[in-house]
Amino acid sequence: MNTHIKSVELAKAYRLLNHGPTVLVSAKHQHEENVMSAAWACALELIPAKVSVVLDKSTKTRELVEKSGYFILQVPTLKQLKLVQQLGSISQFNDPEKLEHCHTPLFQFEGFDLPAVEGCAAWLICKLIPEPHNQQSHDLFIGQVVAAYADDRVFREGHWYYHEAPAEWKSLHHVAGGHYYTIGDAVDANLLE
Ligand SMILES: Cc1cc2nc3c(=O)[nH]c(=O)nc-3n(C[C@H](O)[C@H](O)[C@H](O)COP(=O)(O)O)c2cc1C
Repeated sequence: MNTHIKSVELAKAYRLLNHGPTVLVSAKHQHEENVMSAAWACALELIPAKVSVVLDKSTKTRELVEKSGYFILQVPTLKQLKLVQQLGSISQFNDPEKLEHCHTPLFQFEGFDLPAVEGCAAWLICKLIPEPHNQQSHDLFIGQVVAAYADDRVFREGHWYYHEAPAEWKSLHHVAGGHYYTIGDAVDANLLE
């Protein structure tokens, strides 16, 4: 594994999503694995760390999450813009070789038989907390974070360093129709008079 990838304390895992990045959601069930983009992902609880993500019924990834009970939310970067757009535009239901066609580089974290996307800035490995009503009525999936990791070139000691890292590490924030912002300037409310 890339030596820059470091474990993140679970109590700090919420910080990996607090700035509202568009994420990649990955899941695996038996021999099937997949990745999709998601803008509607959010931190939900500090301890135990929980997250929420909206997975539409039209997505293959949702099926794999429902069947396996696990998923990964990962924070992609500006250098992965094309991958994010493609993984969010093609469904594996239509293209069974979606991952190959999108040139999706995958690896695994030790102890988790789940497809993680290489090159991201952070990864939250989540165990689904089954809530059939929310899932069916609102497409809302809740997960408990069981492990979290980040690349220390952009997140270390519980803090993001977007303001120091090269621009290619910036997070992506989808607006609509393939238009995104990258994360902007750091400002500090503690320095206000
Ligand atoms: C930037 C972006 C954000 C997206 N956000 C979501 C989301 O939050 N929830 C969702 O269900 N689909 C979202 N989508 C659409 C899915 O990623 C898309 O339907 C994808 O093709 C599903 O892939 P799958 O069927 O192979 O799982 C988004 C797409 C893009 C490009």
